[in-house]
Amino acid sequence: MKSQKLIDTARALVADDKGLLAMDESNPTCNKRFAKLGIPQTEEFRRCYRELIVTTPNLGECISGVILYDETILQQKKDGTPFTEVLIDAGIIPGIKVDTGAKDMANFPGEKITEGLDGLRERLAQYAQMGARFAKWRGVIAIGDGIPTQGCIEANAHALARYAALCQVAGLVPIVEPEVLMDGEHTLKRCSEVTEEVLRTVFKQLNTQRVMLEGMILKPNMVVPGLTCPKQETVDEVADATVNCLLRTVPNAVPAITFLSGGQSCELASARLNATNVRFKSQVPWVLAFSFARAIQQPALEIWQGQNTNVPAAQQALYFRAKCNRLARRGEYNIAMEKT
Ligand code: 13P
Repeated sequence: MKSQKLIDTARALVADDKGLLAMDESNPTCNKRFAKLGIPQTEEFRRCYRELIVTTPNLGECISGVILYDETILQQKKDGTPFTEVLIDAGIIPGIKVDTGAKDMANFPGEKITEGLDGLRERLAQYAQMGARFAKWRGVIAIGDGIPTQGCIEANAHALARYAALCQVAGLVPIVEPEVLMDGEHTLKRCSEVTEEVLRTVFKQLNTQRVMLEGMILKPNMVVPGLTCPKQETVDEVADATVNCLLRTVPNAVPAITFLSGGQSCELASARLNATNVRFKSQVPWVLAFSFARAIQQPALEIWQGQNTNVPAAQQALYFRAKCNRLARRGEYNIAMEKT
């Protein structure tokens, strides 16, 4: 029974060419983004911003699931309606980020290990009671001189698999997010090699921990050149490298791949997702979808600036990015759609 529920939720999360919106920034990350725009870094401003997002008109046309954060899942609209209720009414499935952050890894300078397994079983039960039907955990892998190490990749993959197993026991679909970071001068080829190694290790651990692949979603990075790499491949080359890497590593039983945006521009994230679908949609066993935070939210945040009067324009911008990415799932996005 539980297995079928997990399978149904995983499928519902990517049904009808929709995708996921991540609004699960931790307070420090959210504050950092506010600070850059001069928005006050208080709980009330974070709540107002999240209210703007969840009340965006017609969001449910393009977004099937939203990833919340511990502070946000308990928050309410100004009129007292819980955010989870607003989302469910809009036909959007609430989810929750459950890791407690990537911390410096002991004995591995420059590398991080994601924490949060202690007490996770109890927290998952509480989140399920609050209405969450899926969860997210992000492992972070940096590329640099001598890194990533096998020690870091294995520790993060093990934690992801332990988390995923606990989620399934609690009836929540795990979104498994191993993110190879874009920061650095490395080439696309190097990103591809590292991503391949990471995904291989993650699926080995998922298998060892007896995670049911049909009842999970993979949230990987796209295979891209480092942000400061002098050679930046075309959109089609990125799509080819990304899908080839996934074909070598992701079992057919996984229903969906929902990419993170990782700091790419909104337009590039949509264009690259579009290209993966134009070139591979009919040939791959899984759905190629999105679970973006910055590549959906950033324009809206910049328009909002913390001002009430800017809410409608910010919501329009948020809806527009969600729509672009839904079109990209169909291979129908075009850069010409971008406003100037
Ligand atoms: P970005 O799309 O901004 O990379 O965020 C996705 C996410 O959920 C990070 O954990």
